[in-house]
Amino acid sequence: MKICCIGAGYVGGPTMAMIAKQCPDIAVHVVDLNQARIDAWNSDALPVYEPGLDEVVREARGRNLTFSTRVDQAIDEADMVFISVNTPTKTFGIGAGRAANLEFVEKCARQIARNAKSHKIVVEKSTLPVRTAEAVKRILSSEGNGVTFDVLSNPEFLAEGTAVDDLLHPDRVLIGGESKEAIESLCRVYASWIPREKILTTNLWSSELSKLTANAFLAQRVSSINAISALCEATGADVDEVARAIGTDSRIGPKFLKASVGFGGSCFQKDILNLVYLCEHFGLREVAAYWEQVVMMNDYQKRRFSERIVKTMFNTVSDKKIGVWGFAFKKDTNDTRESAAIYVCRDLLRERARLAIYDPRVSVEQIRADLCYACADRNGQVCGTDRDLIENNITVVDDCYAAADQAHAIAVLTEWDEFKQVDFAKVHDAMHRPAFVFDGRNLLDREAMESIGFELHSIGKSR
Ligand code: NAD
Ligand code: UDX
Repeated sequence: MKICCIGAGYVGGPTMAMIAKQCPDIAVHVVDLNQARIDAWNSDALPVYEPGLDEVVREARGRNLTFSTRVDQAIDEADMVFISVNTPTKTFGIGAGRAANLEFVEKCARQIARNAKSHKIVVEKSTLPVRTAEAVKRILSSEGNGVTFDVLSNPEFLAEGTAVDDLLHPDRVLIGGESKEAIESLCRVYASWIPREKILTTNLWSSELSKLTANAFLAQRVSSINAISALCEATGADVDEVARAIGTDSRIGPKFLKASVGFGGSCFQKDILNLVYLCEHFGLREVAAYWEQVVMMNDYQKRRFSERIVKTMFNTVSDKKIGVWGFAFKKDTNDTRESAAIYVCRDLLRERARLAIYDPRVSVEQIRADLCYACADRNGQVCGTDRDLIENNITVVDDCYAAADQAHAIAVLTEWDEFKQVDFAKVHDAMHRPAFVFDGRNLLDREAMESIGFELHSIGKSR
């Protein structure tokens, strides 16, 4: 059996590395248009930071795992072709700001059709709007050389930061399709290391829709607890206590109830907006409005956090140094897509604060690029004032202490474990008074911080 995966990103790379590790008899070829990304997969500095991923890649690479840009050849040689390309929110034309941009998926389907000389199983690994498989099937059969195709939907449920563990021990694997033989071929791959009862099979449309629904439900939980965090701050209740109290109800469960500065990541917002677009397309206005509120609540939470910083710091942060701890959208990843930190930093910059940003895994180039993107207008232009602020009011530093040195405040925006190990007395000594800490992840202990002399502001806790 030979597998090809088109798209060597956060999903394609780790997923295929795990299949190759667990199935030494299967040759896995991961291809991408992006030469730099492929070079990184072939080096010791992988393009994706995930705990445990280096070991998985090292074990399989060169044995039965290959990374290259030879897309046509990889398709031709494979029995099974995974499509794992990006499906971002459209930024132009019909459905701009909501619908998924399916350009890359369609290009893959056409490329598969052109290069296939024998029967192929085509697997949708990307997250796609329900009924995309119909379009993929039509393209394959109309553009092809007369060879036959089976299309399967196999959405990926891994979360970044825990990808290796999620791939090793998934709650379930979902496979949607029409052909029993094709479904069984893919089941056999996963059954090499995953118990059969965890491999769910269904029809194509249920599989496609389950992925959008899972992300919508998860994001909804975060927005729900974040909504309650605002009420906690107004009333004197403590959001962590409320989360504990409701999470012990077995019908609710304890996971995904951590109040925060807002959810980020490449999936939640994109997939909910896609769901909203689909609902509107089918005339389900009330359903669309219901889900859209999850994203609106998240925007409110991010905005509320930066406004609270300004308000608390005597209504001005202009020319004040704020140390920003963490820029990734969650710990244990170098991914910053839709990170709450981007929007909080943008808002503080526009208040003319000076930001000293530290993240253990995110590069200075990435931080500047993200802020330019967040400041850009509809045409992608960044106005002169924003550009000057990004150039002059941001420094990216090498550790927490440099970020805190001579700072008026610290904002904790990612829950990196190392932030808990900091010598807070040393941090306090280096800061202006009052030494404000705005903890967007409820990472820090109030009693310990106050005994050192900090003024701690946490999410969902009044002072
Ligand atoms: P990504 O942007 O990290 O990677 C996608 C890759 O596809 C890029 O390297 C790009 O160069 C490549 N590509 C695009 N068009 C191509 C083409 N025609 N030929 C060859 N390569 C091409 O994206 P990702 O985060 O890996 O996400 C991929 C899909 O998986 C998306 O649909 C996403 O919604 C879904 N997903 C992502 C996650 C996650 O945690 N990131 C989790 C589950 C599902
Ligand atoms: C998510 C889904 O969990 C995963 O199943 C899907 O395949 C891709 O999208 P990911 O975005 O990588 O994964 O991370 P996740 O752990 O879901 O966190 C998303 C965001 O929500 C992060 O910014 C995180 O900090 C935030 N979050 C999560 C909270 O604020 N509170 C929580 O309780 C949980």
